[in-house]
Amino acid sequence: MYSNKNFIVNKTRQKPVVYVRLAKFKEAKLLYNIYNASIKAGYSNTKKLILYDKHVEWLKKKLISNSKIYIGKNSNKKDFGYVRFDEIKNNVFEVSIGNLPNFYSKGLGSIMLKKSIDKFRKIYKPRKLICVIKKFNIRSYKCFYKNGFIKIKFDKKQHYTLNKLNSKSEYYLEQKFLDNLN
Ligand SMILES: CC(C)(COP(=O)(O)OP(=O)(O)OC[C@H]1O[C@@H](n2cnc3c(N)ncnc32)[C@H](O)[C@@H]1OP(=O)(O)O)[C@@H](O)C(=O)NCCC(=O)NCCS
Repeated sequence: MYSNKNFIVNKTRQKPVVYVRLAKFKEAKLLYNIYNASIKAGYSNTKKLILYDKHVEWLKKKLISNSKIYIGKNSNKKDFGYVRFDEIKNNVFEVSIGNLPNFYSKGLGSIMLKKSIDKFRKIYKPRKLICVIKKFNIRSYKCFYKNGFIKIKFDKKQHYTLNKLNSKSEYYLEQKFLDNLN
């Protein structure tokens, strides 16, 4: 921290505190609200808002599959986001992330991603973590980049995703480095 004549400048921005845990069925509404907010804002491949009944059906199946969902909670004990690991093939997982809109751009997403990946890697030992991000989604790109994900060339033979790829409008990333976050 330093000061000049007019104001005090705090150079050491404190990292927010984030706790992560595996999602349970009771978090269905929270996840539903995050997904639909992300669809509305155009960050998702899905264009139509999800109906709650369909979401519940989907979540029930997800929770008993190899895919895992982590919930992020802030220092005020408020659940604000999720990180999902979807198994695509042979222990290769596609990672996705979302916050409730009130919690965008507060430094929470990057930390939630790091903590979820640390837990997930420790327990489930994935072979590879990949993600697909819309090129205009700079905030999400930065979040993954900070966590050691770098752009790779799209190669159908080596990499897989749950969605149809559109290499013109999406970046294809893979986690190559661990513990990048500073
Ligand atoms: C993507 C998302 C999870 C990121 O979480 P977040 O808490 O908002 O992000 P953070 O505050 O941790 O910021 C991540 C980085 O983006 C930067 N950033 C924040 N807001 C930004 C903005 N409006 N424009 C550009 N960069 C921005 C931050 O400075 C930070 O970079 P830095 O660490 O180099 O400073 C969240 O914004 C979100 O839910 N977005 C909508 C859904 C979505 O896009 N999901 C991802 C689909 S792949």
